[in-house]
Amino acid sequence: MPTTRGRPVAGRRGLRPRGGHLRRRVFQRWRSVDHRRSGVYTAVAATASGSNREYVNSLGADEFVDYREQRFETSVAPVHAVIDTVGGTVQQRSLDVLKRDGVLVALPADVPDEVKAEAERRGKRTRYFSVEPNADTLTKISRLVADGRVRPTVSSVYPLAEARAAHEEGRAGHVRGKLVLDATTVAS
Ligand SMILES: NC(=O)c1ccc[n+]([C@@H]2O[C@H](COP(=O)([O-])OP(=O)(O)OC[C@H]3O[C@@H](n4cnc5c(N)ncnc54)[C@H](OP(=O)(O)O)[C@@H]3O)[C@@H](O)[C@H]2O)c1
Repeated sequence: MPTTRGRPVAGRRGLRPRGGHLRRRVFQRWRSVDHRRSGVYTAVAATASGSNREYVNSLGADEFVDYREQRFETSVAPVHAVIDTVGGTVQQRSLDVLKRDGVLVALPADVPDEVKAEAERRGKRTRYFSVEPNADTLTKISRLVADGRVRPTVSSVYPLAEARAAHEEGRAGHVRGKLVLDATTVAS
């Protein structure tokens, strides 16, 4: 079933102890897992292009920003945390939407030294977060998917032999949900 694929590593980003970050206001680029179902966030603002508005709202975003039409740093009220999936200048601009003592969590790569320094100067924090696959957690995620509490969205399934094309599509940064490599099929 396509809906049970694509969950493993990305799904771990949604698993957190309940309570620790409740009632936080969070800003994130949209992703394929509905984090609010895990009970972590109470208010989420998310960026994507206009064609994804409905989808992002269906995942539970409270506020949607079409980054092609609006600048998020002037249209979103200050937040406690930014989860950055884009990097570069978008990451740098993210500091403008963070409250003092707020945290910028970078997913694509470690935060460059100059961004870290600027954040520190402005009383904000930065973190690089990287998922480490773990069999126990993956088993828990499988249960959440089986129970219907986590809904992975699969954009495309590529045969393993087309891994390069999948990688290139992923790097372009506009995939809705996850790309899956199917090791059981062989490209024609
Ligand atoms: N550190 C880790 O453990 C970890 C785990 C998973 C992924 N990653 C990395 O995180 C990055 C993102 O992966 P992902 O799968 O979460 O996201 P993704 O599928 O690449 O999605 C990026 C999101 O950002 C939006 N976006 C694109 N350009 C933007 C801009 N200029 N301003 C604001 N929003 C913009 C896109 O909207 P549209 O699609 O509508 O254009 C999309 O919603 C990749 O580099 C991936 O390798 C890291």
